[in-house]
Amino acid sequence: MTDQPPAPYAGAPPYLGEQRVLSGMQPSGDLHLGNYLGALVKFVRLQHQVETFIFVADLHAITAEQDPKKLKQQVREITAGYLAAGLDPKVATIFAQSAVPEHAELAWVFNCVARLGWLDRMTQFKEKSGKHKERASIGLYTYPVLQAADILVYKATQVPVGDDQKQHLELTRDIAQKFNNDFSAPGFFPLPEPLIQGPGARVMSLRDGAAKMSKSDPSDNSRINLTDDADAIAQKIRKARTDAEVLPETAEGLEGRAEARNLVAIYAALAGITEAEVLKQYAGQGFGAFKPALADLAVSVMGPIGGEMRRLLADPAEIDRVLADGAQRARAIATPVMAEVRGLVGFWNS
Ligand code: TRP
Repeated sequence: MTDQPPAPYAGAPPYLGEQRVLSGMQPSGDLHLGNYLGALVKFVRLQHQVETFIFVADLHAITAEQDPKKLKQQVREITAGYLAAGLDPKVATIFAQSAVPEHAELAWVFNCVARLGWLDRMTQFKEKSGKHKERASIGLYTYPVLQAADILVYKATQVPVGDDQKQHLELTRDIAQKFNNDFSAPGFFPLPEPLIQGPGARVMSLRDGAAKMSKSDPSDNSRINLTDDADAIAQKIRKARTDAEVLPETAEGLEGRAEARNLVAIYAALAGITEAEVLKQYAGQGFGAFKPALADLAVSVMGPIGGEMRRLLADPAEIDRVLADGAQRARAIATPVMAEVRGLVGFWNS
């Protein structure tokens, strides 16, 4: 643990004009291979390149029903996943969203900047609210406004997210621009860019190559959870849906073979090589040979991560210290930004 936060954080002013990465995950459901390859690996890589803020979105989580008795533990589990995957709390700032009240305060201001018409276009709300839109919470509707506040309260410039979040990033930019305009503060908020590219950007379900690997899939066999042990990992890969053909020479040969392509992509991402390199090695072989190799690889990469998560969760004091320290560093940035916002808006408490 850090005795002292790294120099740039201690009460430092916001880094105007510089790069800052921020991302978060909701504490709902277990972390899985898709989260690991699609998000965690990227966070871990980015932390060494640019100032990185990674949080657990417990405010967002309650847009769907949560058990109040479990929510804190769910925050710890995501944090354990961050640490086990390799986020270094001395390097990256890791914290819980609710520990920095400025997120919610800025979200209110942004609720008054964003237009109904903008939010009406959000496809994720349409999907999540389903047929009974009128019964969804208003929080679910303004979810992307809170997301904009998460990002802009740190003046973050880059946001690693899945492609399903691209629209929320566009909204964030619209909000930043309108705020800067409405309050005559050109350049006050940066216009953050999504970071979407990269291998592992889309890990698909092991049961259906057309669906994303997801924590909300009712079949546990559709995903590899970070906490699965070696047997469970191997078994899920053995049961993964495939076809009867052998692996082709080149990636074009995977056209129309979504399940096969997914397993090849997972292998490549886990091994840190390209799909072409995987195929060079396994061309002409069937899944009877490829699956055990993939299972061994997955166990060797994921096994230690699951083990580290279990170790961290067995004694949550370490996780709690990381979150307390991260919240302090996060607030050192968010507090002065929010103070400026109050001033720009003309609030009494500015
Ligand atoms: N909506 C994001 C997701 O479901 C989670 C999230 C909340 C987030 N706030 C954020 C991601 C801010 C990036 C930046 O994946």
